[in-house]
Amino acid sequence: MVIRQHFDPVSSTYSYLLIDPASRDAVLIDPVLEQHTRDAALIRELGAHLLFTLETHCHADHVTGAWRMKQAFGSRIGLAAAYGARNVDLPLEHGMVVRFGESALEVRATPGHTAGCLSFLSPDHRFVFTGDALLVRAVGRTDFQQGNAAQLFESVRTQLFTLPGTCVVYPAHDYEGRTSSTIGEERLFNPRLGGEARREDFVGYMENLGLPHPKLMAVAVPANMSCGRDAEVSEPQPSWGPVVESYAGVPEIAPEWLSRHRDEVELVDVRSRAEFEGELGHLEGAMLLPLEELRARVDELAASRPIVLICQTGKRSAMAATILRKAGLPRVANLAGGMARWRKLGLPS
Ligand SMILES: [Fe+2]
Repeated sequence: MVIRQHFDPVSSTYSYLLIDPASRDAVLIDPVLEQHTRDAALIRELGAHLLFTLETHCHADHVTGAWRMKQAFGSRIGLAAAYGARNVDLPLEHGMVVRFGESALEVRATPGHTAGCLSFLSPDHRFVFTGDALLVRAVGRTDFQQGNAAQLFESVRTQLFTLPGTCVVYPAHDYEGRTSSTIGEERLFNPRLGGEARREDFVGYMENLGLPHPKLMAVAVPANMSCGRDAEVSEPQPSWGPVVESYAGVPEIAPEWLSRHRDEVELVDVRSRAEFEGELGHLEGAMLLPLEELRARVDELAASRPIVLICQTGKRSAMAATILRKAGLPRVANLAGGMARWRKLGLPS
């Protein structure tokens, strides 16, 4: 199983993309709306088939990307039935098994941080996604969203600490850069409920955290009760063409699209003059502007039309796209695969 851990720096949330190696069927745990472009790019590049997004709980600190993933990939939305949220395709309950290819996750109810918190466990008990029920050397707060410290104590002790000591704990958050832990470590060292801690110790600790409410709570909870459907999308798809942002962060446009829409964009070729006139040739109407001169000559480019950047294989033009975006030109894209792919596809220059 492939496990990819992604971080959202604004909310310190971890999302996890799990891919079954044989079938490429995948699930995405706790997607963050603002990270949709990044997560979607990796799903596409790895050739994964996203079957489900799974929420460990209804979050108060970020809006889920579940609805947007569903729009992009047709994935089904899994969230605990306990919340009664709208747009849930897979109402999750304790004891269910979510299958994707030959892989699976067992659903365990671990309430206490919220009333509907779930953990997702590999069937061989080698790893568990604990949401906010168990964090690295911490646990999620219990002072809102029907939180209950005594219930969380029970959940962790009976549903998580009973797992093998080697079971890897993947949390929903970390604020100190820690990425994972193990059940054995947390049983010993969790300062809130590890070691000899009794329920009274834990409840006393949790009742005196004195934390301010999350900044986004008033926005995030209602949006998450519709699985992100009602949320505002901050960076919508560019309207001028099917630009796809790569996992490397480069906006790309497919050669097939460009061959049909050449007169709608500016073509800028960033190779040397020798290459421009060389065997791969160049596209008719393309402006030659070698990469090393681009920063100094940005003003020569008209911002009125989208700009497609071209080089031999799409590497230098990717750098060029980054330079132009930094220079304040938002409507730019790299010709994916450059002139080499254009030629291979037999498209006319
Ligand atoms: Fe939470």
